[in-house]
Amino acid sequence: SWYRMGMGSRQSSMMEKMGSSGSVIRDSSISVVLCTLIVALGPIQFGFTGGYSSPTQDDLIRDLNLSVSEFSIFGSLSNVGAMVGAIASGQIAEYIGRKGSLIIASIPNVIGWLAISFAKDSSFLYMGRLLEGFGVGVISYSVPVYIAEIAPQNMRGGLGAVNQLSITLGILLAYLLGMFVNWRVLAVMGILPCTFLIPGLFFIPESPRWLAKMGMMDEFESSLQVLRGFDTDVTFEVNEIKRAVASSSTRRTAIRFHDLKQKRYRIPLLIGIGLLVLQQITGINGILFYAGSIFKAAGISSSNIVTCGLGVIQVIVTGVNTWLLDKAGRRIFLIISASGMTASLILVSVSFFLKGSVPEDSHLHAVLSVLALVGLVAFVISFSLGMGAIPWIIMSEILPVNIKGLAGSVATLANWLTAWIVTMTANLLMDWSTGGTFAIYAIVSAFCLVFVIIWVPETKGRTLEEIQWSFR
Ligand code: GLC
Repeated sequence: SWYRMGMGSRQSSMMEKMGSSGSVIRDSSISVVLCTLIVALGPIQFGFTGGYSSPTQDDLIRDLNLSVSEFSIFGSLSNVGAMVGAIASGQIAEYIGRKGSLIIASIPNVIGWLAISFAKDSSFLYMGRLLEGFGVGVISYSVPVYIAEIAPQNMRGGLGAVNQLSITLGILLAYLLGMFVNWRVLAVMGILPCTFLIPGLFFIPESPRWLAKMGMMDEFESSLQVLRGFDTDVTFEVNEIKRAVASSSTRRTAIRFHDLKQKRYRIPLLIGIGLLVLQQITGINGILFYAGSIFKAAGISSSNIVTCGLGVIQVIVTGVNTWLLDKAGRRIFLIISASGMTASLILVSVSFFLKGSVPEDSHLHAVLSVLALVGLVAFVISFSLGMGAIPWIIMSEILPVNIKGLAGSVATLANWLTAWIVTMTANLLMDWSTGGTFAIYAIVSAFCLVFVIIWVPETKGRTLEEIQWSFR
């Protein structure tokens, strides 16, 4: 019970004292912010795993004598591991809690990085990558869900976006550090986020909503009190959560696939899956993964600097998104994001098409190369303004508490599956036609815009329980 609550009576009374002395824990938001920052170590790992293969590619191939196809298997195995992790994530987080699932994710992750750092041949690399990926799959579900379940409604968007901010920070760290250290050292660095995450989890409370769902009512109320501050009256929130849990099916009643067909479940599930799938098939991972070669095709050769530049842009714009999300709402950012993505992809596509029909040494050719570059940067900015963070936030907000495990797993799996398909096909598609590939991504982005306008509800400022009731 100490572990479940995460704060022993020692820490609780310490916080209580600090609260009553009128200083440190006065502001009820400090606790949730600290808890969010601790679990945000998980998504740093998510981003680091994604970013790792880019700067290490040439050295790994040389040092371990890999073929190009062995290297692509290495790159894509983290996605395969993540799919397995996604399938397991909901069940793990349902039965042992959000914090427990993060421990389960961290252990294979650390072992995976160790296997890579000591790898003598491709088999170690493959095993390491699968284990790492498994951890990332679980993290990608559990962290947004934990954050949504602890955050007060007026801060849920911003805190939820910290998940994506950490992912982008992880990608950037892998790119940057990868320019200075070799692949073995970089893999050792990969161990760090989860090594700090595991002890950190012992100092934060378990999700109050999960505790309530599991019928641990004392722990539930203490967890909420710790999160909201000891001088905050939590009676209203306690009652609302109790009511939502009571109106869902009783605890431990297993929800089956068949149940998801009911309208109150089907609609949030379709919105959650729709956004997470659209996030991928607009091409972000293909574009980030092959940024270097896309820029080369556009006539710009310093691919490391370009890749790092895109990483920096992602972090900065996601930071802006994190700051503004609770002020402006989710829908407006999704609409701006999808519109910007569509417009920039059209620009990139048209530039590549036209480039094919003008002489390489002409002035127009150079202008078109610059336009393609501007379009790609605009695409990454637009993505980071909404489609990066918000699909994960919406998934964690709109799924009712009793189907969150099963439905969240399905939505997370759909995201990883499509991420894998896009990364595997991006190169082939670009060999077929670069302009055509971007045209396909542009059409999907335009569809995404329509999807958001018609289907995605505004969740800003509403409690998770209000959102859940709105689908009845
Ligand atoms: C989102 C996507 C992830 C992608 C990242 C890029 O988190 O889910 O697949 O790599 O954005 O910033």
